[in-house]
Amino acid sequence: MANYVNYKLIERGDNWVELCFDQPDSKANIFNESALRELDAVVADLAGRKDVKGVLVTSGKKDMFVAGADINLIKSLDTIDKAIEGASAGQQAIHRFSKLPFETVAAINGACLGGGFELALACKKRLASDSKAVKIGLPEVMLGILPGFGGSVRLPRLIPLTAALPMILTGKQVDGVRAYKAGIVDAYLPSQDFNERALKWAKANAGKPGRRVHTFKDKVMEMVPMRGIVFSQARKGVMKATKGKYPAPLKILDLLGEIHGLDTEEALKREAKSFAVLAVTPISKRLIELFQLSESVKKTNGVGPEVTPIKVERAGVLGAGVMGGGIAWAFANKDIPVRMKDLNWDSVGLGLQQAGETFGYALKKKRLTKPQFMGKMGHISGTLDYAGFKNLDVVVEAVVENMDVKKKVLAETENHVSENCILASNTSSLSITEMQSACKRPQNVAGFHFFNPVSRMPLIEVIAGAQSSPQAVATLFELAKKLGKTPIVVKDGPGFLVNRLLLPYMNEAMFLFSEGVSVERIDKVMVDFGMPMGPMRLADEVGIDTASKVAKILNNAFGARAEASPLSEIIAKSGRLGKKNGKGFYIYENGKQLGIDDSIVQLIPNRTAKSAGLTDQELVQRMIYPMINEAALALAEGVVKTPGEVDLGMIMGTGFPPFRGGLMRFADSERAQKVAETLERFAGAGGGDRVKPNQALWDVAKRGNFYRD
Ligand SMILES: NC(=O)c1ccc[n+]([C@@H]2O[C@H](COP(=O)([O-])OP(=O)(O)OC[C@H]3O[C@@H](n4cnc5c(N)ncnc54)[C@H](O)[C@@H]3O)[C@@H](O)[C@H]2O)c1
Repeated sequence: MANYVNYKLIERGDNWVELCFDQPDSKANIFNESALRELDAVVADLAGRKDVKGVLVTSGKKDMFVAGADINLIKSLDTIDKAIEGASAGQQAIHRFSKLPFETVAAINGACLGGGFELALACKKRLASDSKAVKIGLPEVMLGILPGFGGSVRLPRLIPLTAALPMILTGKQVDGVRAYKAGIVDAYLPSQDFNERALKWAKANAGKPGRRVHTFKDKVMEMVPMRGIVFSQARKGVMKATKGKYPAPLKILDLLGEIHGLDTEEALKREAKSFAVLAVTPISKRLIELFQLSESVKKTNGVGPEVTPIKVERAGVLGAGVMGGGIAWAFANKDIPVRMKDLNWDSVGLGLQQAGETFGYALKKKRLTKPQFMGKMGHISGTLDYAGFKNLDVVVEAVVENMDVKKKVLAETENHVSENCILASNTSSLSITEMQSACKRPQNVAGFHFFNPVSRMPLIEVIAGAQSSPQAVATLFELAKKLGKTPIVVKDGPGFLVNRLLLPYMNEAMFLFSEGVSVERIDKVMVDFGMPMGPMRLADEVGIDTASKVAKILNNAFGARAEASPLSEIIAKSGRLGKKNGKGFYIYENGKQLGIDDSIVQLIPNRTAKSAGLTDQELVQRMIYPMINEAALALAEGVVKTPGEVDLGMIMGTGFPPFRGGLMRFADSERAQKVAETLERFAGAGGGDRVKPNQALWDVAKRGNFYRD
């Protein structure tokens, strides 16, 4: 038999061959051009052997079966023809494999995603281990494409439609147990000596039919007319979740409807075509780029390889309020024991209750078992003093937003922790550098800015104060990843990155309201743009009093360009604080939004109709372009280093629409020159310094784009 670069063929007795995918010089197995071409040759090799009774497909990598197709290859597809050709090449190699005239069994002992799962689906049987590393799924939809190596065809033919649809439409991944329950794998085996056990199982079960889990109800659901109802429900779900902004899930539904009952070859052809249509869209390119940005975060510690972060095994949280309770949850959720300190037991109780509610929700949704729930809650202990703080690696401060209090608390904490303990502040607006001035070991102090609600918001800004050591920054960066979050390193300064950029947007929305545009319309144009909620609704969520306070802080820091609309203060003073007390721009009952508070209009002094005639597009420009303006300045000041970090921050921290690729990608698609000229016009029309394009933006306009690719 020939030698291969990516695969090893090992004789395993009884005429069984192990086909081990083991790409050289790589931690992962990826279907790139060479691996696919070689797979074809391997299949031809095996097909020519009369003695083979079975093939066990394994991986030579730890915790990994196959990670998927080469993402750079997908990103490079720029014409439909090239994309069809690319998908067909993969499809055909895998399809020829599926036609081998003997038993083929995939032994899945780690990540089995995208193209990897599609190879497993082409096997006659599949086995999964109980390793925590097993995750099986088709994440293509998250990259704006669909499974194009046969997955869209084979998965709905293997398992019930109602189980296949969510996996293809949302990219949902399952572990070994869930894969077994869903009928994806034929057996679920212990991970110890997995390949040996898998081989034994495969030999013992050779020739027997594969496992099918379809119930009577599943079979009815796949027949006309129920099938139509399942599809129309799925379409409704997709529209609700994506508001029609993402073409991939809609295309998937069209394709699955179209290929039902077709022979596999014809179905594969249609799959390749649908894949190609999606692969060349700018939305797919943006989503792939976003994926690559978040992957690149995983490979760094935020500082440099020469810095070794401290391993965080025990943590503390000061303040058991809204954020403290959430942060304690985040530690416990990753099985890091955490001490939560507050001024009295009532407050500690509230923090515990908050963490308990989040774990309780997971329990209700069956994401946690009762013993797991108890275990997680057991990681959080409350205290009124510093008992146990000597053993902590990190303490996160989340007490009230007041510089004097924070300085006092940090200075006091330093006396009760070890010399190496990192002190992290969750402040949303105060200077880390100033906090360091109150500390004996300022090098151990840095910012660690979570977003609210902690359990749902993926971003953490790691703020380097003037004296923060690289090790403190790297430790917090690694810790954020360990907590399942996406960190970006941000220079200390008012509003850090995300709030600094968000403020002009919220502020302009307030000005537009004073200039005659309705709350309803302001929010609608931004939701149509793709924001998860409009700015007025966001002000209600944040708290109008809080929004007003932050606006003032930034106004003081930045002067005329951050002139705060007086509106939020007036509204907050009228007792409308937003969702937390049931009235803001909207009215709420038990947290549910009931409608707009029309009476709010009467509170606005000298309301004009100046902007009422602006088009929807101009309204978007009025709110988004000032953010771009501020981002240009922040980049020039080195608040973050790259436009990619701005995009990651805005998408993960504010829900800026991922399909637009982030604020900077959007700016490039609009062209910086047009953004600057439009802002100049807005400034001339009464917006003044608030919306005047700054030199940094003009510089970008002159250069062309924010991104330099
Ligand atoms: N709420 C948000 O949306 C949000 C988002 C990001 C960051 N933050 C920041 O997080 C921090 C906390 O905000 P929050 O909304 O959770 O406030 P909060 O008022 O809900 O909680 C503050 C807690 O700190 C406690 N506390 C005060 N002094 C203390 C001390 N000396 N020792 C121990 N505990 C003390 C209070 O009793 C209270 O329980 C602030 O710096 C805030 O700016 C808030």
